[in-house]
Amino acid sequence: MSKLSVRDLSLAGKRVLLRVDFNVPTEENDGHTRITDDTRIKESLPTINHLRAAGAKVIVMAHFGRPKGTANLKYTLRPVSEHLSKLLNAPVGFSTECVGEIPAGLIAGMHDGDVLLLENVRFHGEEEANDEGFAKELAALGEIYVNDAFGAAHRAHASTAGVAHHVPTAAMGLLMEKELRYLQGELKAPARPFVVILGGSKVSDKIGVIKALMEKADTFLIGGAMAYTFFRALGIPTGKSRVEADKVDLAKEILELAKAKGVRFLLPLDNLETQEISATAQPRSTGLVSPEKGVSEGWEAVDIGPETISLYRQEIAGAKTVLWNGPVGIFELAPFASGTRSIAEAVAASSAVTIIGGGDSVTAVKQFGLGEKVSFCSTGGGASLELIEGKVLPGVAALTDKV
Ligand code: 3PG
Repeated sequence: MSKLSVRDLSLAGKRVLLRVDFNVPTEENDGHTRITDDTRIKESLPTINHLRAAGAKVIVMAHFGRPKGTANLKYTLRPVSEHLSKLLNAPVGFSTECVGEIPAGLIAGMHDGDVLLLENVRFHGEEEANDEGFAKELAALGEIYVNDAFGAAHRAHASTAGVAHHVPTAAMGLLMEKELRYLQGELKAPARPFVVILGGSKVSDKIGVIKALMEKADTFLIGGAMAYTFFRALGIPTGKSRVEADKVDLAKEILELAKAKGVRFLLPLDNLETQEISATAQPRSTGLVSPEKGVSEGWEAVDIGPETISLYRQEIAGAKTVLWNGPVGIFELAPFASGTRSIAEAVAASSAVTIIGGGDSVTAVKQFGLGEKVSFCSTGGGASLELIEGKVLPGVAALTDKV
């Protein structure tokens, strides 16, 4: 059942309680908090502008970090309100409390089109407990609830799910709609060949995604440390690479499943290996791997090698749909970044629908300046994985059905 969208609502003069995901990376410098990547804030602007242009009073709520239910100012959203104000080129009020008399008083003074950001909802333990009383207190602040916090939609918390049951109307924001359109809509019946690139460190993080996509994908391209658990399953030497020993049987099962389904499940042909993880390391190639020759004793594989890069590039070039989740090497360190960079370049050059499924692969694509060259970069980490796995996201399920 599709959900009501903010585009379906009449908003003039209404108090709209808008949940966003402003959980952005920051760094402290001389007592100042600097937002190091404001993508999530920028991605919420279309919905905020839509609400303002329609004459709503926009009451924004969000979480920031994991303060574990206490009012720890290390996790205040105040710097985010200042940044949002710059991006909107308009004043943004800030309420030091997210429920009770303080926000109620500030909201009473709002005019149509005004924006107010509430302090971190996770300063209250009731938020993550999805406490009904707290959800009701939040709901009392608005007349309409809009959820645009895709990145937190896999959390059944008071501000992401509970609150929706205590307002007459609960709708998706524009970012939420876009995320669902790509990660659910486009992947429902993907144009073929459908190539899935999976990396990252652990097979265990990606099991659900692999199993769900095994039903749809034509080809998997595997990289990152998770590849070496598959190497172990195939008897290829892994040196001192990271291997999840307790997942080797699972890796064997996945390889069998791929064979049975006729899905191509490609592992690195060669790798870069190093004895030292550092920005000055000089990795060398393992050469083509086999059960006789893999990652060298005492060395660790840290990236895919040149033969793998050219094979994977070719596969990506022939695809009609590409989904990428997880870097294929330790791209944060320059000597180990060439695999991830090459994959990012191939994805960016492709004419396929190209979807980057959140987390580190989005960071990588952006770091290489290629964010604008792909069809879609998700703002969700865990949320995008759960959605691709086919799980119901509580933050979406709680919204009003479209009749
Ligand atoms: C995220 O950054 O992935 C989301 O904002 C969810 O945050 P959480 O993992 O702390 O719930």
